[in-house]
Amino acid sequence: MAATIVIGSQWGDEGKGKIIDFLAAKSDYIIRFHGGNNAGHTVNSNKGEFVFHLIPSGVFNPNSTNIISNGVVIDLEVLVNEIEALEDIGIVIKGRLLISPRAHLIMPYHKILDEIYEREKGQEKSGTTKRGIGPAYADKVSYNGIRIGDLLDDEIFSRRLKTQLALKNKILSAFGEENLIQEDIEKEFLSFKRKISSFVKETSGIINSAIDDGKQVLFEGAQGMFLDNDWGTYPYVTGSSVLANSVTAGAGVSAQKVESIIGVAKAYTTRVGEGPFPTELNNKIGDTLRKLGNEFGATTGRKRRCGWLDLELLRFAAKINGFSSFAITKLDVLDSFQEIKISTNYLYKDKKINYEDLGLNDINKVKPVYETLKGWSSPTKGITRYSQLPIEAKKYLQFIEEELQIPITLVSTGSKRNETIVL
Ligand code: GDP
Ligand code: IMO
Ligand code: MG
Repeated sequence: MAATIVIGSQWGDEGKGKIIDFLAAKSDYIIRFHGGNNAGHTVNSNKGEFVFHLIPSGVFNPNSTNIISNGVVIDLEVLVNEIEALEDIGIVIKGRLLISPRAHLIMPYHKILDEIYEREKGQEKSGTTKRGIGPAYADKVSYNGIRIGDLLDDEIFSRRLKTQLALKNKILSAFGEENLIQEDIEKEFLSFKRKISSFVKETSGIINSAIDDGKQVLFEGAQGMFLDNDWGTYPYVTGSSVLANSVTAGAGVSAQKVESIIGVAKAYTTRVGEGPFPTELNNKIGDTLRKLGNEFGATTGRKRRCGWLDLELLRFAAKINGFSSFAITKLDVLDSFQEIKISTNYLYKDKKINYEDLGLNDINKVKPVYETLKGWSSPTKGITRYSQLPIEAKKYLQFIEEELQIPITLVSTGSKRNETIVL
């Protein structure tokens, strides 16, 4: 049994793509099991930088099979573009990509609804990626979704689309948006169907057999723990469950079959979009982190908000997901700091409090307690051996391990696959 789940343990963009690409080199299957093209997973390969939105970040291993399982919501235009972009750089996808017929489609009206919600909420907006994610998941749970498998049957697709347009056009009209036309969507989706139908196949059985046969199976989490729909900073979250256990709903695999769960955390914290962020640095230090870490969204290009590492968040993420280990990324971004702060816990009304015990809207009011560590002021970029790290960098990592009581097994010192320390 060799199934591993990789989970973002902050607010997304932790460097999951880099870690997945590293682990994928020795994996047989890589599986996206939730989220959609709100994700942007960057892989810096020898063919250049590639940002994956839907296709698993393991395709650079030519021997791997990559699966988009039922829990993912799919914008077919994005998927088709991604397949073509990979083919353009010589990556053969044929025979190596599987898409579950149960995965729900992001329809044109989902993207417009996402826009409308954000616009009409004004100051209360979530800061979504406007990719239609929330509306697509909302339709899924309210029995209004249309699935990849429905698209394969012209008659069913046409019928379902007609029902939905009758509903959705009324909403669009109410907000002054143009109505969508059935024939236009059918025509567009027919062309998508021609491009993707050969990849569509039930995936749960394939994944289970692979695990049972001892193959290396890697589940690629998207977003991050604190964007989780239940346990994140609601309502500033995403539409899917981000938790490790959502592989059961999202890929049809029992949690019992999973051998290890790796939490990916940046050596500091970032967040894109609205919502609370206790260790945020709205100052020069935050700007420096953004500049050195090139913290601009891989999907939307928005500026990422930056702050110090927050161990209270990581502690909760580790607990609820059951992390076996952590992968710490972007250590090199801290190379030039003389002092580095880490928040060890929160105070609320002068008392120590855990994330999960906070009142629903109180995370805005906590005071992070900081420990100040000496920086290493020397380059770690590209270092591949722990022994070569400066003593202060080792102390930084040891401090995190001791506070969290979970081993760090991977340290990333650059965006390329080989810029990685295995511990
Ligand atoms: P993901 O969504 O978790 O896959 O992360 P993103 O791809 O959105 O953002 C992470 C960014 O950091 C990308 O530009 C990566 O190429 C880059 N990156 C990943 N690991 C490292 C690292 O260890 N050091 C540096 N400097 N950059 C890294
Ligand atoms: P990866 O997989 C960072 C954020 C959005 C917004 C909130 C809701 O690359 O780490 P949505 O479009 O999902 O309805 O937006 O979630 N968000 C992400 N932030 N990384 C991501 O994915 C994200 N996916 C969604 O910015 O705050
Ligand atoms: Mg990202």
